[in-house]
Amino acid sequence: MYVSDGLTVNASGHLCVSGCDTVALAKEYGTPLYIFDEALIRANLRAFRAAIEEIYGGNGLVIYASKAFNCKELCRITMQEGAGLDVVSGGELYTALSVGFPVDKIVFHGNNKTYDELVMAVDNNVGRVIVDNITELETLDAIARSKGKTVGIMLRIKPGIDAHTHDFVRTGQIDSKFGFALETGEAMAAVKEALGMPNLKLRGLHCHIGSQIFAPDPFVLAAEVMLDFMHLVQMETGTVLQELNLGGGFSIKYLESDPLMPYNDFMRTVAHALKEKAQSLGFPMPFVLIEPGRSIVGAAGVTVYTVGSVKTIPGIRTFVSVDGGMGDNPRYALYQSAYELVCANKADQPRSTRITLAGKCCESGDLIQENAPLQPVVPGDYVAVLSTGAYTYSMASNYNRIPRLPVILANEGKARMIIKRETYEQLIENDL
Ligand SMILES: Cc1ncc(COP(=O)(O)O)c(C=O)c1O
Repeated sequence: MYVSDGLTVNASGHLCVSGCDTVALAKEYGTPLYIFDEALIRANLRAFRAAIEEIYGGNGLVIYASKAFNCKELCRITMQEGAGLDVVSGGELYTALSVGFPVDKIVFHGNNKTYDELVMAVDNNVGRVIVDNITELETLDAIARSKGKTVGIMLRIKPGIDAHTHDFVRTGQIDSKFGFALETGEAMAAVKEALGMPNLKLRGLHCHIGSQIFAPDPFVLAAEVMLDFMHLVQMETGTVLQELNLGGGFSIKYLESDPLMPYNDFMRTVAHALKEKAQSLGFPMPFVLIEPGRSIVGAAGVTVYTVGSVKTIPGIRTFVSVDGGMGDNPRYALYQSAYELVCANKADQPRSTRITLAGKCCESGDLIQENAPLQPVVPGDYVAVLSTGAYTYSMASNYNRIPRLPVILANEGKARMIIKRETYEQLIENDL
């Protein structure tokens, strides 16, 4: 139903997530709140792992890009499902370490890791630091040398691919703040410098061409460009790089009309192209890493709000205002992201009105969706916004000093809280 099979409607007409009644959860935990489908998150992780097994004969690793949604329980689930973890800050790394995440399966990203973050990575023996620029390469080398350690690294490369997605989530082209450019010779220079650093072990190369990508072609192109470059590295330096990290970016269903991406077919297409390319170059198939984020948690999350007011401006639009907004989901304000809305307590009724869902922040741009179908609602009704599992909690802010939301995990009829609602006391905790 709607955007994921885990969403159903029960006999009371209430929207359910993995068998848990969202209206009952809203009453128990208050609103706004995030509800995640644990069964779906685990199934997604398993599906990617199985695809790596099947397609690459196990010669690869699924890394969950935890920027999509990072907390202790998500790190535990990722660990239990045998996947690795992509962290992009000291905070995400700290969270992973706090639950004993295996460090050899952690990759540390970021275009401007601080000195302290690099020290933290080295001290904790993070398996792969994804180096973004020459300054970072040299700083990391100096830290590793000073500690007498060898640090595994990959270099982030811009393969020059335009993934035809939103400007803010497109990263593989030359005009991007992330990584080393191929065209300018910057990437080759970095590879050569890294190979001359005995305290750094260059495990391979990384690229990430964007997010919410709907077709396999950009991935295929990126994989081919990267393998060509690995071959060039071999010819120029004699070194055969072992690993190729193709990043994340698989799209999910936000709208009912969005296609459901057959990730396995995607991966098969990419693997096929990689194998052909490797064969034609006489280059060994690398160990392949992928870093899905959105596709693991995106469709697994819904946000439930209470309607506070309904304001109709005749001939213009109807604003339905709810008790959350850009603080818990800034994605519409940032990227005009599309969402499906459902009245959680009238989910069996037709969505016969079109409304603008407005947040409670003191900002005209605090909208969650415009011109969206919804059941007719009145104050006190619950509105669920679907597919809000990725880049919502992780992008949340305390704008207007609104406490952050709790997170509930639903799993086949059983629900448990994994993040508590922030309190007003916590809001002023660091104020002096
Ligand atoms: C380096 C890297 N890997 C993986 C991801 C995850 O992307 P997605 O959530 O689209 O799968 C991102 C997202 O920004 C990224 O920057």
